[in-house]
Amino acid sequence: MSKKIKVIGLYLFLCLFFQTVLWGQINSIGNQDIVSGEVWKDTDGNVINAHGGGIIFHKGKYYWYGEHRPSSGFTTQVGVTCYSSADLRNWKYEGVALAVSDEVGSDIEKGCIIERPKVIYNQKTGKFVMWFHLELKGKGYGPARAGVAISDTPVGPYTFIRSGRINPGVYPMNMTLEEQKLTWNPNEYEWWTPEWREAINKGMFVKRDLESGQMSRDMTLFVDEDDKAYHIYSSEENLTLQIAELSDDYLSHTGKYIRIFPGGHNEAPAIFKKDGTYWMVASGCTGWKPNEARLMTASSILGEWSQLPNPCVGKNASITFGGQSTYILPLKDGGYMFMADMWRPSSLEDSRYIWLPIRFDEKGIPFIEWLDKW
Ligand code: GAL
Repeated sequence: MSKKIKVIGLYLFLCLFFQTVLWGQINSIGNQDIVSGEVWKDTDGNVINAHGGGIIFHKGKYYWYGEHRPSSGFTTQVGVTCYSSADLRNWKYEGVALAVSDEVGSDIEKGCIIERPKVIYNQKTGKFVMWFHLELKGKGYGPARAGVAISDTPVGPYTFIRSGRINPGVYPMNMTLEEQKLTWNPNEYEWWTPEWREAINKGMFVKRDLESGQMSRDMTLFVDEDDKAYHIYSSEENLTLQIAELSDDYLSHTGKYIRIFPGGHNEAPAIFKKDGTYWMVASGCTGWKPNEARLMTASSILGEWSQLPNPCVGKNASITFGGQSTYILPLKDGGYMFMADMWRPSSLEDSRYIWLPIRFDEKGIPFIEWLDKW
């Protein structure tokens, strides 16, 4: 073999070697950790835009749904986005799962406000059902509706079905007959006075909204072990959380619902169940500004809930580490992941994500501690 051929051979070998090694390395460099508060990019290198969202696990993959938020302004220009991942760290953009409509007068007309979308899978119908908070275009936060959409596949596109308030004409299960008979004129009350508080506790706004249906803003969904699903939402001017049972196809409400913590001013509910106990984390109502989270617990979803102290511990625990709860995801290893949004109202698309593991103290009470990465 001549010297020239040997050199070319060596050159080709080195090229092949470096290409294989480097290529392998480049491919294996994905996101290895969850780093809350940083800019998160999808596998195409674009910034992930999926706020106020939730995640489901289906056939070996996680699907993350969230609000697509613009760089300026507060209204919805795109819709609900979807990303998929096998490891919760590397997310592939799957497109717009629910798109706003160009049709003038549509409930989800471009320029409406779509917030806090959540998706659940219905075992019986084989459909993916999305519920979300909807405000009609040009109406501010007045309509306080819930919208529902459906798809045959997790990534969609989802077909919008309808929007409206909740359970018109029906009293909550835990409003007594005596309370149902009371009448109030809400205009006569000054907010936060003892008389007003008493009226709120007894259901002044439930009664005011009885015919139109209950208001529904920040929301989440929960599917129980018996496959019954529940819609949990901030109602009654964000003063009171309500928990409403969904029909077997998850597309409507059955009329069974309760109020919890009347006047408690709880928003951004996120729920999970562990060993038969339900745990809910919520925020207070300070708009985009972070506040102290609340923990609530119950042994039956439709009944008696009790309040516990802030589940966050450590630095910035009194402001939920700068975030606001949105969802709690059960993990494959039996753990739970707390998801929150670090809102940036000056440019909502730049809002960040906080994902942290939920831990349990010696009494089995959940708590959340900041981790730089995990
Ligand atoms: C927050 C709420 C967000 C959004 C915002 C609007 O309290 O959690 O989802 O509605 O108010 O100001």
